[in-house]
Amino acid sequence: MKTKSDFDKEKQLAAKEAVKLIRDNMIVGLGTGSTAYYAIIEIGERIKEGLKIKAVATSKETERLAVSLNIELIDIKNIDVIDITIDGADEFNSDLIMIKGGGGALFREKIVLSLTRKKIIISDSSKKVEILGKFKVPIEAVPFASSYVMKQITIAGGSSKLRMKEGREFLTDQGNYIIDADFGPINDPETLAMTLNNIEGVLAHGLFIGLVDQIIMGHGDTTKIFEK
Ligand code: 5RP
Repeated sequence: MKTKSDFDKEKQLAAKEAVKLIRDNMIVGLGTGSTAYYAIIEIGERIKEGLKIKAVATSKETERLAVSLNIELIDIKNIDVIDITIDGADEFNSDLIMIKGGGGALFREKIVLSLTRKKIIISDSSKKVEILGKFKVPIEAVPFASSYVMKQITIAGGSSKLRMKEGREFLTDQGNYIIDADFGPINDPETLAMTLNNIEGVLAHGLFIGLVDQIIMGHGDTTKIFEK
């Protein structure tokens, strides 16, 4: 059985491969999470060697890491298009539909990927699944609407829990709550995504459909590419 350190190696391998796609003068979307972390570290190394890029961060945590590595950040409000984004995923299936948002950055991640020309997801080999749904679907909800949203999740056939951190509600970078929703095996992610889109008070949900061009997955000592 693979250990955490095996998965870490796979993440690093995938991250290194993805960062090779970055060229001078690109605007780069920086993901959030332990896999994206390796990509950001690698970008920092390339910057030391002279790479010139500007970047957009998907979370405050990523922003802090980028600043510490001298990666120049720009405000997403001032750009029309991001050349390439490298981010992680919690689960993905063979249709390249993903669950994301384990780190709570799903809203910003969705916006950044939606503005991106080349959407690259990096992962270790544990993230590829036959059927989505073992990982709970994170849902960012406006606090005022949270109990309403949880009721609607029940009506949609799921169960849910408000995400907590250190005894208090976890707050996203937008100041919202995360509701982790369990729908069991998700056989029809498109329909579920539409249902979640239609709940008032939901800012974003963790089903990412049509938001990736290529998945680079570390697999042992090598990488596997999945693309449409
Ligand atoms: C954060 C995310 C991450 O990309 C996702 O949770 C994967 O994280 P990790 O690389 O740590 O497994 O969506 O909101």
